[in-house]
Amino acid sequence: MSQTTYHMSPDEFREYGHQVVNWVADYYKNLEQLPVLSQVRPGDIRRGLPAGAPFEGEKFQTILQDLDRIILPGITHWQSPNFFAYFPANASGPAILGDLVSSALGVQGMLWATSPACTELETHVLDWLVPMLGLPSKFLSSEAGGGVIQDTASSSSLCAMLAARERATNYASNRQGGHGRLIAYTSNQAHSSLEKAAMVCGIGADNLRLVDVDEHFAMRPDALSRQLEDDRGQGLQPFFVSATVGTTSSNALDPLPEIGRICAANDLWFHVDAAMSGTAALCPEFRYIQEGIELADSYTFNPHKWMFTNFDCNCFYVADRKSLIDTLSILPEYLRNQASESGSVIDYRDWHIPLGRRFRSLKLWFVIRYYGIEGLQFHVRRHVELAQQFAQWVQQDNRFEMAAPAPLNLVCFRHRGDDGSNEELMKRLNRSGDLYLTHTRLDGRFTLRFCVGQTNTEQRHVERAWQKIQQVAAEL
Ligand SMILES: Cc1ncc(COP(=O)(O)O)c(C=O)c1O
Repeated sequence: MSQTTYHMSPDEFREYGHQVVNWVADYYKNLEQLPVLSQVRPGDIRRGLPAGAPFEGEKFQTILQDLDRIILPGITHWQSPNFFAYFPANASGPAILGDLVSSALGVQGMLWATSPACTELETHVLDWLVPMLGLPSKFLSSEAGGGVIQDTASSSSLCAMLAARERATNYASNRQGGHGRLIAYTSNQAHSSLEKAAMVCGIGADNLRLVDVDEHFAMRPDALSRQLEDDRGQGLQPFFVSATVGTTSSNALDPLPEIGRICAANDLWFHVDAAMSGTAALCPEFRYIQEGIELADSYTFNPHKWMFTNFDCNCFYVADRKSLIDTLSILPEYLRNQASESGSVIDYRDWHIPLGRRFRSLKLWFVIRYYGIEGLQFHVRRHVELAQQFAQWVQQDNRFEMAAPAPLNLVCFRHRGDDGSNEELMKRLNRSGDLYLTHTRLDGRFTLRFCVGQTNTEQRHVERAWQKIQQVAAEL
């Protein structure tokens, strides 16, 4: 620390920066050996920290030492190749370095004028992704739509619901509040973020209908139609449907063509949530999962789940950007500027809830350029292949059964014992530190989920995980 200014000088930054980069490289080198799930108890980390902040600045070296001593034991290693829990939140070298540059520039990109590159790179990279994923051209910025980076899929689904609400009420709800008769629809397997969106945007969770699913946990279009009729009969106003491409519990694929046609016939906003599985569409052979996407009004997927771009990075597309902007735009005097008034630039502050925004497209740009479409496809294919191999092993072992179809990289399975033995199996596996997997309930039964999507997961990790599962199952 410089004695006179308290600041870190550029030369000191260079020195400490090298140390941190070395720390990160070593972390990734040794990551595989670390117990995946943190084993600390509640309060352990805080007990290791001093009660108050230091009055005098400390040596950078001491801070780094405490990172190893205090913080690392409390880390669940999401980047471990033995991480098979939840859905992944994977990262990669180019993404981390892109994020470092974004932090260094420290840009706040609320307006085009506050850093033109922040806006234009984002528009450009989101346009790149449209053909990369086989999405409809109406999502391109050169047409009526466009894409924006948000923090999470939760935020973008909320924005979709808000825009739908305004479109359905002719932009009156923003001014007068809701009339309480708007009804939204999703399946009973949809992510909880849809329920939260209904709560936050004033629709009310009770006015979000959780439509029945079929035997594969996909939304039933006939059940949706019946529910719409029922609601209309009661004088309510249906306005929004969210379909999921790859549900969180079991990776179920809602039938977009049928749902989309129902939305078009009933003038409903059609939103598609492909938070993790959207990434699979990088590979043409997996694009069948989003058949019908051309009917969608909005679409969301998370490069921060399965596309090697560290959290947070969500991509949100709308077919008609005007409806989103008209919903979220407010213009105080202090943000007025010539570029905005010219009408020739995008101001992304009007495309989401917060005003301020980070330069997130940098990390996405680094990732896409470093891997190339070919590299991204290679890893997605590999993950799917490994998950399919795992599913085969499950099917070949008569102590286990599949609990749902496994179209991509998530395998839902059970030990044939009762819920208690499955829960015990999961606890023992996770306590071992050798792997980490999580559970859900399908048809009311405790179900194990094994998701392959961590950047560095290879065949040997999946093989070892399966051996461990078999070994612990034998000890039950
Ligand atoms: C289908 C689906 N939608 C939405 C989300 C929420 O994602 P986020 O954390 O980006 O809000 C998830 C998270 O797992 C998900 O699986």
